[in-house]
Amino acid sequence: MRTQYYTAASLDGFIATEDDSLDWLFPLGDINDTGYPAFIREVGALAMGSATYEWMLRHVIRPGSATPGTWPYTQPAWVFSTRALPPVPGASIRFVRGDVRPVHEEMRAAAGERNLWLVGGGGLVGQFHDAGLLDEVIVQVGSVTLGAGKPLLPRRITSPALRLVSAHAIGPGFAELRYEVPRGAR
Ligand SMILES: NC(=O)c1ccc[n+]([C@@H]2O[C@H](COP(=O)([O-])OP(=O)(O)OC[C@H]3O[C@@H](n4cnc5c(N)ncnc54)[C@H](OP(=O)(O)O)[C@@H]3O)[C@@H](O)[C@H]2O)c1
Repeated sequence: MRTQYYTAASLDGFIATEDDSLDWLFPLGDINDTGYPAFIREVGALAMGSATYEWMLRHVIRPGSATPGTWPYTQPAWVFSTRALPPVPGASIRFVRGDVRPVHEEMRAAAGERNLWLVGGGGLVGQFHDAGLLDEVIVQVGSVTLGAGKPLLPRRITSPALRLVSAHAIGPGFAELRYEVPRGAR
C-alpha cells in the first residue's frame, strides 16, 4: 500500500490556472495513453481538497443540468473542506477537515492492500508530506507553461531529494515522471 500523488502539471509546475481552469491540459493527449488506467486499477481510496471537488462538480457532475454527469470513482473518497459542500447522490464521499493523519488511517482501513490516491491540490498533498505520509509523486508533465497558477507541491523538499524512478515520453504532449519520496525527506 502506497500513498501516491498522481497528477498532471504544466512544465513550470502548475496543476491549474489561478482561476482553476484545466482547459490547457486536455488537448495535450489522451489519458488512456498515459499510466492512468494501470494506476487507477490499484487505487483503493482517494482524497482531494475542496477546489478539486468543486471543479468536479462544475465540469463532471453539473448538478441541475439537463445532462448531469456521474461521479467517476468507485473507490471511497475523502474531501477536505472547512465549508459544507453539496454531496453527489450515490457517491461514496466523506467530508473532513483538519489533521490529515486520522483521515489517512481511515483511508488505509478502507483501501486494504490497494494504494491511496492524493488527487490534489498541492497544499493538501503538502500536509500529507509534512506528516511523513507521502510515498510517491507521479506527474504527467504537460508541454505547456502557464506562468502562474495552482502549485504542484508548495513545499521545499531538498534533503534528501526525491528519487526519480522512471521517465517516459507520451507523444509530444507529456513526460510521465515517477518519484519516490525517501523516508525523512524534508
Ligand atoms: N492537473 C491535474 O491533474 C489536477 C489534479 C487535481 C486538481 N487539479 C486542479 O487544481 C486545482 C487545485 O486547487 P487548490 O490548489 O486550491 O487545492 P485543493 O486542495 O483542491 O483545495 C484547497 C482547499 O481544500 C481545503 N483544505 C485543504 N486542506 C484542508 C484541511 N486540512 N482541512 C480542511 N480543509 C482543507 C480548503 O478548502 P475550504 O476553503 O473549502 O475550507 C482549501 O481552500 C483545482 O482547480 C483542481 O481542479 C488539477
